[in-house]
Amino acid sequence: MSRTAILIVAAGKGERAGRAKPKQYEALDGIPMLARSVAAFGTLPVLTVIGPGQEALYAAALPGAPAPVTGGARRQDSVRLGLEALEKTAPDFVLIHDAARPLVSPATIENVIAALERGAAGAVPMLPVADTLRRKQGEDWITVPRDGLYRAQTPQGFRFGDILAAHRAHAARDVTDDVEIAALAGMKIEAVAGGETNLKVTTEKDFALAETFLSDGRENVTAMGFDAHRFTEGDHVWLCGVKVPHDRGLLGHSDADAGLHALTDAILGCIGAGDIGQHFPPSDERWRGAPSWKFLDHAARLVAEKGGAIRHCDVTLICERPKIGPHRDAMRARIAEILHLEMEKISVKATTTEGMGYAGRGEGLAAQAVATVRL
Ligand code: CTP
Ligand code: MG
Repeated sequence: MSRTAILIVAAGKGERAGRAKPKQYEALDGIPMLARSVAAFGTLPVLTVIGPGQEALYAAALPGAPAPVTGGARRQDSVRLGLEALEKTAPDFVLIHDAARPLVSPATIENVIAALERGAAGAVPMLPVADTLRRKQGEDWITVPRDGLYRAQTPQGFRFGDILAAHRAHAARDVTDDVEIAALAGMKIEAVAGGETNLKVTTEKDFALAETFLSDGRENVTAMGFDAHRFTEGDHVWLCGVKVPHDRGLLGHSDADAGLHALTDAILGCIGAGDIGQHFPPSDERWRGAPSWKFLDHAARLVAEKGGAIRHCDVTLICERPKIGPHRDAMRARIAEILHLEMEKISVKATTTEGMGYAGRGEGLAAQAVATVRL
């Protein structure tokens, strides 16, 4: 069987998108665009090319992923540097893909690989142009016959050695994709069927369009979680991922963060995946003193594995003390960070029980949470 490597270029600045981060690190339905692009290739080995200084963004988007390589000023420079880095692994084929096309379908990827396996020197997913096209010439609009006009997408697949040689030989030219480089080197490229949803997220409006494609045929599921921990000696408590100074601590096997535990259970509830105790048994020494963001991260990964997306989280902390208000936004920001969600999608509230019950007597505190997941 032929060995196929995937090269994902993610070294751009995303200037036209105008987001705070380069667009490939922004979330689409809760999952960073780059993470979606990598996941689209399943078990195929992926090498990612990132921009200088994007190391922390990369690590946050793809925790534990193989080390990336650093790209260059133009897309084609990033591709060439990526191909150079792949040379030692000598794959038969390489598929070069834009991180900015996170919705590429298995069918499109399969079409490209199948063409290479049939012996094509290169393969590109294309779609016919449906709109009438016009070119502005001075004051006039000239209709361009659309017969034979196609839109090119990625991934574009090639025999590895040929495309590396082509990029090296024609690095001085300015091109917009790899097929153009291949053509300069005289390679004959085969067109395969592209996908209508395989858009390149370029401007702000494309984020909404991509989210619309992602939500097609899915529904929102809501579930709740609850947790309580007893106060003990100590000088701080962990709540919703934030260390809050207090004259007591919380008793628990992990860091006893009732807020994150309730939220983890709510998320697990949305996908019918049991509860936190099943995934992280208190009897297991590995979780002694564990930071609870690990539990929440695990639940979020299970949702992503099912193709789901967390849409909204609402946590209520129930205690007389410590005062939650001053820490509320830090808690929202921390949960947003763990779940790769915007802070607007995270709510943290607090209430007392007017002195009644165990929370009212200060014996412990409780948390409840509601999560909404699109499945
Ligand atoms: N890209 C790259 N290296 C560059 C420029 C672009 O790896 N020097 C990548 C982008 O990260 C993106 C893909 O090539 O995944 C397509 O480029 P484009 O959509 O133009 O992205 P940006 O260059 O980031 O966006 P903009 O042109 O709006 O700044
Ligand atoms: Mg660009």
